[in-house]
Amino acid sequence: MVIGLVPTMGALHAGHISLVHRARKECGLIIASLFVNPIQFGANEDFDSYPRDQERDFGIFERNGVDIVYAPAIDVIYPDGFGVTVTVSKLTECLCGTKRPGHFDGVTTVVSKLFEHCQPDCAYFGEKDYQQLKVVEQMVNELDLPIRVVGAPVIRERDGLAMSSRNTYLNETERRIAPALFRTMRTVAIRLSRGAELESQCEWGNDALLAAGFDRIDYFEVCDGQTLERARGYRPSLRIFAAAWLRETRLIDNLAADEID
Ligand code: PAF
Repeated sequence: MVIGLVPTMGALHAGHISLVHRARKECGLIIASLFVNPIQFGANEDFDSYPRDQERDFGIFERNGVDIVYAPAIDVIYPDGFGVTVTVSKLTECLCGTKRPGHFDGVTTVVSKLFEHCQPDCAYFGEKDYQQLKVVEQMVNELDLPIRVVGAPVIRERDGLAMSSRNTYLNETERRIAPALFRTMRTVAIRLSRGAELESQCEWGNDALLAAGFDRIDYFEVCDGQTLERARGYRPSLRIFAAAWLRETRLIDNLAADEID
């Protein structure tokens, strides 16, 4: 029987559910993991305040056809004295990797353990965390793990805001500003497809987000969709990546440069 794993940190939304549904179509047994992984949060990040509601999450998993919820205790994943870090180089040295040092080491370390504990044939990750998806793909390829990594499209609110557990942090005003992230990326995608110059569009994107009300921008970049290297000239395989702050909330999003419908 084909085993599918949907790794999550809980605080489930339609994006997670789309992964479960995709796994349901392709696998005979669905495991969803629920573990808020401390080592992928930086010292000043939101590990303590990260939304947790296991009862709600268990209900959502059950109603959507998950067969097993794997919600390990912290010492099952990180026993006393745990001293291993799984690192993927290069792909982690840009975008969120630069802004959140150690974050991807935390992700690849926990995902390795989840893979070992659940022994999936397929594992499902959302493209909302596109860099994470590419990093996990590289880890699986280079460690020769017999796992098919499946990336699923970003699920958006009606106004374009990418679904994220962190959207619950936004107050009313911030929630109104937040869709500008997607709108700005989309405008840049359209302009690039019409021949606009790449670098000036990234600058424009940065300024447009500040003008829309974002407090600070971590990055607004156009990169190769596979290597994540910053692009020099336009081609359809490129992706636009943005990370920006509304007060204490950091939102990220990305869009294929040719995804302009
Ligand atoms: O994307 C997430 O929710 C997390 O980074 C993951 C993959 C479950 C690892 O903790």
